Amino acid sequence: AKPLRIGLAGLGTVGIGVVKIVQQHADQIALRTGRAVQITAVSARDKSKNRDADLSAYAWEVDPIALAKRDDIDVFVEVMGGHEGAAKLATEAAIAAGKDVVSANKALLAHHGQALALAAEAAGRVIRFEAAVAGGIPVIKALTEGLAGNQIKRVMGVMNGSCNYILTRMQNEGLSYAEVFDAAQQLGYLEADPNLDVGGIDAGHKLSLLAAIAFGTQVSFDAVELEGIGAISIDDINLAADMGYRIKLLGVAQMTGRGLEQRMTPCLVPADSPLGQLQGGTNMVVLEGDSVGQIVLRGPGAGMGPTASAVMSDVLDIARGLRLPTFGQPASTLALPQAARSSTP
Ligand code: NAP
Ligand code: HSE
Repeated sequence: AKPLRIGLAGLGTVGIGVVKIVQQHADQIALRTGRAVQITAVSARDKSKNRDADLSAYAWEVDPIALAKRDDIDVFVEVMGGHEGAAKLATEAAIAAGKDVVSANKALLAHHGQALALAAEAAGRVIRFEAAVAGGIPVIKALTEGLAGNQIKRVMGVMNGSCNYILTRMQNEGLSYAEVFDAAQQLGYLEADPNLDVGGIDAGHKLSLLAAIAFGTQVSFDAVELEGIGAISIDDINLAADMGYRIKLLGVAQMTGRGLEQRMTPCLVPADSPLGQLQGGTNMVVLEGDSVGQIVLRGPGAGMGPTASAVMSDVLDIARGLRLPTFGQPASTLALPQAARSSTP
């Protein structure tokens, strides 16, 4: 079989993780997919930057749109970030040029996922985004494949590692929000715009994507009830602990008689529950299906290896010829969700 040729847009944390997997596991990947998977061309802004990887075999495009249109790529892997501008334009260009797309960009998918999925379907292409939700945890595959025979009742979880890191350090060490926020920023845990993390927006993006898949609705990020962790004090944390609870930035999506309820807010969870025990930057997603009952997935929600692992699972699906629709069913069949406000505080 012909090799599957990747055009890799973005050579930061995730992009270099993808390079490492493709280079280090080439033989295993070929055995698993029945064909070679190779990177032919890459894009990033600064060609002179030292990136701790050998990129000499790859063609270089400063413009990701030019990369997206190249004849020598089959799959456009978008790991640049941003929901407008280059990431959106290049993804659209890739689809128009007949490429499949793999993206880690939850912001892009939460804002434009429906339009991109429709465009991909019209072009006979696929766009996949396992890495966009909960990093290394294969939660989209769990929903679209492993639990495909279930009616999903509820999706919930901790989907932002930075917030969980801040809350657990406040809890464990008695530090103030401001002290831990500064430490998290110095360690590079927070997004360039930290309000995406602490404002609950990043986690809200992820929840809106899971809700669309779980309930067969169009992505409706604007309908997510959002509240960040910036107002949580050490007194709040101590009071919760005295009552046997932990405070977590918890996402919940469920279909109610009034419509789709989606909220990403600080919640009290029992201290001895799996969610209450979740430490540091780890993510946890709980899926409830009518036949299977409850599934708990726990693992690294960010970082080079975990996120690249998820990107590669989508690339390998494409190499194998698995062409599942983006949201688990054709985008044209996704219902317009009726938003329900939460029934519980
Ligand atoms: P990053 O380290 O900031 O890397 C971004 C890369 O994109 C850089 O190589 C940058 O080029 C390149 N880039 C940005 N704008 C560009 C443009 N206009 N033209 C060409 N190249 C451009 O970001 P990251 O952490 O790898 O994240 C990438 C994506 O994955 C984001 O959507 C993020 O939300 C998502 N994600 C990340 C993680 C994680 O743990 N990091 C987890 C899940 C999902 P230069 O290097 O030249 O500046
Ligand atoms: N800023 C995100 C987090 C990165 O802290 O979870 C992974 O999406």
